[in-house]
Amino acid sequence: MSVLIAPSILSADFAQLGAEVKAIDEAGCDWIHIDVMDGHFVPNLTFGPPVIKAIRPWTKKVFDVHLMIDPAQPYLEDYAKAGADIITVHAEADKHLHRSVQAIRALGKKAGVSLNPHTPESVIEYVIDTIDMVLVMSVNPGFGGQSFITSQLDKIARIKRMIGDRPIDIQVDGGVTADNAGKVVAAGATCLVAGSAVFKTKDYAGNIAAIRNSKG
Ligand code: DX5
Ligand code: ZN
Repeated sequence: MSVLIAPSILSADFAQLGAEVKAIDEAGCDWIHIDVMDGHFVPNLTFGPPVIKAIRPWTKKVFDVHLMIDPAQPYLEDYAKAGADIITVHAEADKHLHRSVQAIRALGKKAGVSLNPHTPESVIEYVIDTIDMVLVMSVNPGFGGQSFITSQLDKIARIKRMIGDRPIDIQVDGGVTADNAGKVVAAGATCLVAGSAVFKTKDYAGNIAAIRNSKG
């Protein structure tokens, strides 16, 4: 199966977010990756449920919401109601990861768990049967346009072995480009997030295709 491509709208033109979402939809993306930052868990601030709700009518594609917020649990319902299809929480931001994953599932949404670059994959061991996705951060979260941390390739391969034949996506986020995407997929990624590599020029279709077809 071909790798899923999820452009991060963190690199889009915020002044015309609806049109940008429509444009990446028409350019052939699979999911829309939405980076929510709180200025506390990460040193940057983006947007929350009202903005997600406002862009929801612009596409039917999956809204993949990456919550870089601490705490996340009190807000899960707000993100579900705003139009999220997948809600990912950070293991480092959650004292009760198992409870949050269950809460996301109880809202009828898919549940993801994200790991910062320093976080070992062992933290997912006891939630692995209740999650739909593991998000491997290949940069320290907070900003687009950073370089891929190559040590994460080994982590991706370890997570692939832990998952076995369970239907769980491995998403990789940060510094993914057409130059390294092939290696990331070879390690085990099933979904690639890309911000700057998609939005760097107006040829979104060409940029998405280059990542999808990367052999690097
Ligand atoms: C970083 C975000 C990423 C970011 C990726 O905190 O989670 O989704 O937008 O941007 P690039 O692809 O430019 O590294
Ligand atoms: Zn992200």
